[in-house]
Order: sequence, then C-alpha cells, then structure tokens
Amino acid sequence: MAAAAAAAVPVATPTPGRMERVVLVTGASGGVGLALCRRLLEEDGRIHLCLACRNAQRSEAARESVLAAHPAAQVSTVEVDLGSLVSVLRAARDLRRRFQRLDFVYLNAGIMPNPQVNFRALWQGLMTGKVLHMLTTAEGIMTQTDRLNGDGLQEVFATNLFGHLILVRQLESLLCGNEKPSRLIWTSSSNARETAFSLSDYQHAKGQESYSSSKYATDLTSVVLNRKLNKQGLYSSVVCPGLVMSNMTYRILPVFLWKLLMPIMWLIRFFAKTYTLTPYNGAEAHVWLFKQKPESLDALVKYHSCTSGLGKNYVEPRKMDVDEETAEKLYEKLLELEKQALEKYDDLLDK
Ligand SMILES: NC(=O)c1ccc[n+]([C@@H]2O[C@H](COP(=O)([O-])OP(=O)(O)OC[C@H]3O[C@@H](n4cnc5c(N)ncnc54)[C@H](OP(=O)(O)O)[C@@H]3O)[C@@H](O)[C@H]2O)c1
Repeated sequence: MAAAAAAAVPVATPTPGRMERVVLVTGASGGVGLALCRRLLEEDGRIHLCLACRNAQRSEAARESVLAAHPAAQVSTVEVDLGSLVSVLRAARDLRRRFQRLDFVYLNAGIMPNPQVNFRALWQGLMTGKVLHMLTTAEGIMTQTDRLNGDGLQEVFATNLFGHLILVRQLESLLCGNEKPSRLIWTSSSNARETAFSLSDYQHAKGQESYSSSKYATDLTSVVLNRKLNKQGLYSSVVCPGLVMSNMTYRILPVFLWKLLMPIMWLIRFFAKTYTLTPYNGAEAHVWLFKQKPESLDALVKYHSCTSGLGKNYVEPRKMDVDEETAEKLYEKLLELEKQALEKYDDLLDK
C-alpha cells in the first residue's frame, strides 16, 4: 500500500539555478542522443539536461539510465514528437514556462523510414574507384519510402528538419539576447547531398532520397540561421556522427548481419575514419562543439566525428557543399510554410 502511494507521487522536475547551463537534446531516448547526454555530463556535471523524446516510457528509461551513471545530475524530460506540429508547439510552450534561457539545443532526432539498399549499385561501386566514397556517404546506394504525416507534410522533412526549425523559432526568446551566446547543433549526415535536393520539391515528395534531401536542407538552414541570428547571440553548427550502429542502422540491415560485418568494418575504419560505429564515438563532434567558442567556428563547415583504425576519436571539419543563395531561398520557403502551417495554432504560439 505504502509502495503504491509512493509510486503515485510525481517525480519532481529539478529547476536550473541561475548559473547552470541548460542543454536540450532531441532524440535522447537512444543511439547518438543518449550517448551524447551521458558524455555531456562527463564534461560538465553541473548542466541541467533536458531530454526531449516522443515516447514517455523511453524518455523515462533514458533519464534513469543517465542518472544511473550520474546520480547527482539534474535531468528532466519534455515530451515532443518532432513529426507533429501541435506536439512541437506544446513542447515549446512547456519549455518557455520551465526555463528562462537555453544554452545548447542539440537537434538530433531523426528518421530514415523504410530504407532500401540498392545492392546492384553497391556491387557496381565495389568494382570502381569510388568504393570508399560510396561506403562512407551511402551515395547512390540508399533509398527510402516517405509518406505524408498528420499535418500533410512529408514525414522525413517534417521530422528531421521542419519540426526542429519550428521548435527553434518558438524558443527564440530563450535562445537569443542572452548574456552568453546560445548554440544550436544539428545532427546532419555525410549522406546530405545537393543532387538529392531541389528547391522546387524541398519536402522531397517526388524522389526516393528523402533522408539525404532533409539533411542537405538542414545544412542550408543552419547556414541561414547563422546569418540571421549571430547578431542576437545565437550560433548554429552541423555535425555528422559517422556510421553508427543504432536503431536507425538496424532498420537498414538486420542486427546479425551488422554483427557479421563488424570485423570488416573495423578493417574499413583504417581507411574510412567516419566509421565511428558506436553511439559514444558518434557523439564526438557534438561534445567537441560543446567545448568550443562559437565565434571561432566556421558556419560553412560540417564537423565530422571520426575514429581512427586504432580506435582514437577526433573531429574533422569539412567544408560543406552549400550555396548561400539557395540557402536563403529555402529559408524563405520554410517561413512561408511555417506561416501557413501554424495559422490554426494561434493559441499555442510565442507572441
Ligand atoms: N546512425 C547513423 O549511422 C547515422 C549517420 C548519420 C547521421 N545520423 C543521424 O543521427 C541522429 C541520431 O540517429 P541515431 O543513429 O542515434 O538513430 P536512433 O537510435 O534511431 O535515434 C533516433 C532518435 O530520434 C528519435 N525520433 C525519431 N523520430 C522522432 C520524432 N518524430 N519525434 C521525436 N523524436 C524522434 C528517436 O526516438 P524513438 O526512440 O522514440 O524512436 C531516437 O531517440 C539522426 O538525426 C540521424 O539522422 C545517424
């Protein structure tokens, strides 16, 4: 009886003190996001960490697993489905009520639905000199089947980019004009390719590379956010975690096949340093950025997590293949879409 009564008491959400940095991580329920949370607390045990997840049970399990490693840490959760505008707006409202500012927002949640490997292209690639490039970027060998979500948007675009952008826009009052700069860190991918993206079909309704398109659009968006918001003390960066074994990769090939391939992948790692393989290694660039002064970073660079053949982690900056004019045009389209999409949610908006 006493145990049941105790279980019914809601878990108190710790509120951050004035000096503690507040860090929000989307997609914190597993993979790179969860590893990142643990690693951030290793860097600074005093941060207030807020895990943004869509599933309450997985979110609580993630919180408990973070607390198991860092019992004194301040860890809270917020429920958000990035693929649903109403959920994003509610989460933003909740965060505005709970926090006075946000120091870091890791925009990490992502999906790659129904991934298919084009084994023919893979085989042809193996026979050509482009094999390493193909194995590290998955260029030309991965396709996905996308669909419309409940808001009438392409699901991959909505989850990977648009939901995150709306979240950021609704949190601007917590992110801009603070004493110290605030930071956005997007988990992009080396699979982000210009050839998969088109301004006239920026949601990628017509193609089969919605993932690549959404990540390229993410890179473009980050570039524009820097142009628009650096003056207000908000800085945006993009990272690639490399190839990481996570729920996402386990949807591409079954777990047992990845396990069989592991010795080959360790060997490939001597040539392909982006084969980070574990979520811990994949979070290297995210953690590195946590320690950098934002003014010293290049807005046109993607920061790649890398692991050497002998297992040493490091970060490699690589110039992005982005055109700033296209980035501006995409941003205008995103703002137009935002205007249309949010019309009916007036009561939930930050005014
Ligand atoms: N794995 C790789 O090799 C690789 C390579 C390049 C880039 N990335 C990027 O790295 C990021 C993390 O991926 P991962 O490898 O760690 O995969 P993962 O283990 O599948 O993690 C994805 C995370 O995103 C969350 N998520 C998915 N849809 C969501 C939604 N609608 N609303 C809220 N949260 C949602 C998932 O939550 P649930 O637990 O509820 O599903 C999970 O926490 C992604 O952006 C991915 O594109 C991964």
